[in-house]
Amino acid sequence: MWELPELELDRTEEYLPIFALGTWAIRDPKAMERTIRAAIDEGLWHIDTAEMYEGAEEVVGRAVRGRRDEVFITTKVLPQNASFRGTIAALERSLRKLKTDYVDLYLLHWYDGSHPLGETMEAFAYLIEQGKIAHAGVSNFSPREVDEALRYLRIVNNQIEYNLDNFRDVEERMLPHAESRGITLSGYLPLWRGRWPEGEKMEVLREVAGRYGMTVPQVILNFLTRHRRIIVIFKTESVEHLRENLSSVRYTLAPEDYDLIARTFST
Ligand SMILES: NC(=O)c1ccc[n+]([C@@H]2O[C@H](COP(=O)([O-])OP(=O)(O)OC[C@H]3O[C@@H](n4cnc5c(N)ncnc54)[C@H](OP(=O)(O)O)[C@@H]3O)[C@@H](O)[C@H]2O)c1
Repeated sequence: MWELPELELDRTEEYLPIFALGTWAIRDPKAMERTIRAAIDEGLWHIDTAEMYEGAEEVVGRAVRGRRDEVFITTKVLPQNASFRGTIAALERSLRKLKTDYVDLYLLHWYDGSHPLGETMEAFAYLIEQGKIAHAGVSNFSPREVDEALRYLRIVNNQIEYNLDNFRDVEERMLPHAESRGITLSGYLPLWRGRWPEGEKMEVLREVAGRYGMTVPQVILNFLTRHRRIIVIFKTESVEHLRENLSSVRYTLAPEDYDLIARTFST
C-alpha cells in the first residue's frame, strides 16, 4: 500500500489527497459506486459531487455507507438556489441524498448574480455554526470574485477548470492570487471528459508517454500535479482507470519533457 501525496486545505492543518474523484454525468451508477469504494481503499478519500449532478449525491451516499468518517465529501449549491434560506434548504436536500449529517466542503457552484454573494456567505457561516458543513468555498470564481467573497467569510477553496488548455493562466494568474489569500485551488476537467486532443498535441503526449511506459491520461495527470499545489479532480467509473490515474504521480518526467508539453499546449 502506498500513500498519495497530500495538500493542505488552506491553512486548516487538514490535508487532502492530491486527487479527488468526480461524479458528474454518471453513466452507470453501480459502476460509479464500485469505483468510489475502490478509490477509498486506494487512498483517494475525497469525493466531489453537486446538487446539479443528477443522481450523483445518492450514488455517493450509497457508496460511502458505513464509511462516512473515512471520506471527505465536497458538494455544491446552484447559484439560483443560493439565497440565505435557499442555501440552507439545498444543503438539507444534499444531506438527505448523501445520507449524512454534514458535508466537509460546501461550494457555491458559480456566481451569476441571482442572489447577493453576501447572503450566500451568510448562509454558509450559519451552516458552519450548526456543524452541517465543515468548510465553505466557491467554484468558477475569478480572483476579484474570490476577494469579494473573502469580505464576508473565510472561504478555503476555489474549484476551477484546469487542464492543458488553460494551465498557464491557472498557474501564473489564479494560483499566485489564491495562495496569497490562503485559498486552495482544485481543478476540474483535467482529462477533457475523455475528448483527447488531436494532431500534434496528441502526438507529443503519446511520444512522452512512450518514453516512460506511461499512458496518455497518466502523462496529463502527472503534468497537472507536478508542483503538488492544486487538487486535481478526475472522474472515472472504471476501477482500472482509477488505478491507472492514481499511479500517474509515481513518475517523474525529465524537465525537457515537462517543457515540451508546456510549449506544445501554449501555442
Ligand atoms: N465546479 C464545476 O463547475 C465543475 C465542472 C466540471 C466538472 N467538475 C467536477 O470535476 C470532475 C471531473 O471533471 P469531468 O468529469 O467533467 O471530466 P474529466 O475528469 O476530465 O474526464 C472524465 C472522463 O475521462 C474518462 N477517463 C478517466 N480516466 C481515464 C483513463 N485513465 N483512460 C481513459 N479515459 C479516462 C472517464 O471515462 P471512464 O469512466 O470510462 O473512465 C470520463 O469519461 C467532475 O466529475 C465533477 O465532479 C466540476
